[in-house]
Amino acid sequence: MKVIETKDITYEYPDGTKALEKVNFMAEEGKIVALLGPNGAGKSTLFLHFNGILRPSSGAVVIDGENVNYNKKELMKIRQKVGIVFQNPDDQLFAPTVVEDVAFGPMNMGLPKDEVESRVKEALSRVGMEGFEKKPPHHLSGGQKKRVAIAGILAMKPKIMVLDEPTSGLDPKGASQILRLLYQLNTEGMTIVISTHDVDLVPIYASKVYIISEGKIIKQGTASEVFEDVKTIRGANLRLPRIAHLMEILEKEDKLPFDKPYPLTIGGARKRILKEFDE
Ligand SMILES: Nc1ncnc2c1ncn2[C@@H]1O[C@H](COP(=O)(O)OP(=O)(O)OP(=O)(O)O)[C@@H](O)[C@H]1O
Ligand SMILES: [Mg+2]
Repeated sequence: MKVIETKDITYEYPDGTKALEKVNFMAEEGKIVALLGPNGAGKSTLFLHFNGILRPSSGAVVIDGENVNYNKKELMKIRQKVGIVFQNPDDQLFAPTVVEDVAFGPMNMGLPKDEVESRVKEALSRVGMEGFEKKPPHHLSGGQKKRVAIAGILAMKPKIMVLDEPTSGLDPKGASQILRLLYQLNTEGMTIVISTHDVDLVPIYASKVYIISEGKIIKQGTASEVFEDVKTIRGANLRLPRIAHLMEILEKEDKLPFDKPYPLTIGGARKRILKEFDE
């Protein structure tokens, strides 16, 4: 079942910048889908179409099997189904305190007060931000803001969570904590769509990967399928995961028998190396 689908969407900003061109993107229910692309490729622009913040200049956006209807009431419904965590938390956080910010979404959904309170508590705890309830968001660090922004969406319990570079600005521990959380939410049934530049992390969690460059999807498939096409990856100003790059060097420079497809994760490389030693 497809929960997000774009059909040939093209988007032009009012100043004439063509940010998307005939993009066909699809997220299946219960999966983790990654959108990978360099700066300015159109990742954020595409994501803003998933809950109707932007409307395509041509083509159609289909959410949960229905074409997005851009009237106010229908958009409200879509925004409960598709929660978007913006790239920049400053675009998202606005309430005077953290707790009010995270409560805003569930309160707007008309949930009873005690339900709102328990959701806020749970969401803040899941992103590791309990204890910051009374703080004004603008007094938080970048990484802390990011976590609160994620909590705010989490508290609405959307069916689909779309996160625009959820790990950028987080320290290594914070980044893996957020990824573990996304993984956990996914095992609980949530569909997750994320954009990133972090090619090392993509193979670890994404079941499907799209590469976007200059507003066009230039490649899609599993992480192994996508990263096998080294030329396309480099041509789009991206790189191989470090592990795959190391295997490539060992093969090409040192003539070691690590041919393609290169392993993409530490676990995969470990297996391959041990296998060579075994023989
Ligand atoms: N409000 C806007 N008005 C005009 N052009 C815009 C606007 N926002 C983005 N663009 C342009 O649209 C293109 C796609 O931008 P977008 O922000 O979607 O890229 P991105 O892939 O998210 O990049 P990044 O990795 O830097 O976040 C870029 O050329 C950008 O300059
Ligand atoms: Mg962006």
